[in-house]
Amino acid sequence: MSRDPFQWLLWAIYSRLYDRVWDNRLTDHLAARVVDLIPPGLPVDEVGAGTGLFTWRLHQAGLDVRVFEPDARMRRQLVARLPGLAVCDSAIEELSGAPGPRVVVAANVLHLVSDPGAALEMLRRRAGRDGLVVIAGPAPRASLTRFCMALHRRGEPVFGVLLFLSIHIALAPLIALGGGLKVSRRSAGGVDGTTSSETVDGVAQLVLLEGKDAVHTLGSAMPVQ
Ligand SMILES: C[S@@+](CC[C@H](N)C(=O)[O-])C[C@H]1O[C@@H](n2cnc3c(N)ncnc32)[C@H](O)[C@@H]1O
Repeated sequence: MSRDPFQWLLWAIYSRLYDRVWDNRLTDHLAARVVDLIPPGLPVDEVGAGTGLFTWRLHQAGLDVRVFEPDARMRRQLVARLPGLAVCDSAIEELSGAPGPRVVVAANVLHLVSDPGAALEMLRRRAGRDGLVVIAGPAPRASLTRFCMALHRRGEPVFGVLLFLSIHIALAPLIALGGGLKVSRRSAGGVDGTTSSETVDGVAQLVLLEGKDAVHTLGSAMPVQ
């Protein structure tokens, strides 16, 4: 979690508006694509699950999902959305190895961590040999204009597109002061273990990574969860 006061304030506000901005047809489409990529029968860990926009869609698809979300504000909304689901508060950096294989989903998270390379290693080991990591995130060329165009093309009502635009414009000064909504601009595509990478609607990127043996205990002294 960021210690920058502007980032802190930005996320205090953004977390409250998160569903208004992102519970939309683009998320529907991206989540459906993520579901397509998940092999049947494997358990799914979703890290940085936020308010549960992907979680809910994965759950609706009948997947056995376990969720991890370190931010208490986001977690509260997640619990309200999916009351029966156990939610763990671990960040990616605190994940331990667990018996695989499993699918680890990280949607719109990796651009927020300070060391995406280390986070990816963590996720691959969490997935285990024969497991899979599914990364979704903003495409390198994503912009507010492109997002609005993509929303429109996906059939989002005009009101939804305007809301998306106006919230981001209203937050623009704070986003600029906090150094942006991205910490890292590095993409997951092309790193070790990449099996496929695709761009969705010009604004999102989906990357699949193979899992890896969890030879050493990972992270801090967290027990296997
Ligand atoms: C942009 S939101 C995405 C939420 C959700 N995955 C979605 O796509 O709707 C990013 C989420 O990642 C969480 N996050 C930030 N840094 C993290 C880290 N190091 N480990 C795990 N989650 C993290 C934040 O608390 C936030 O809920």
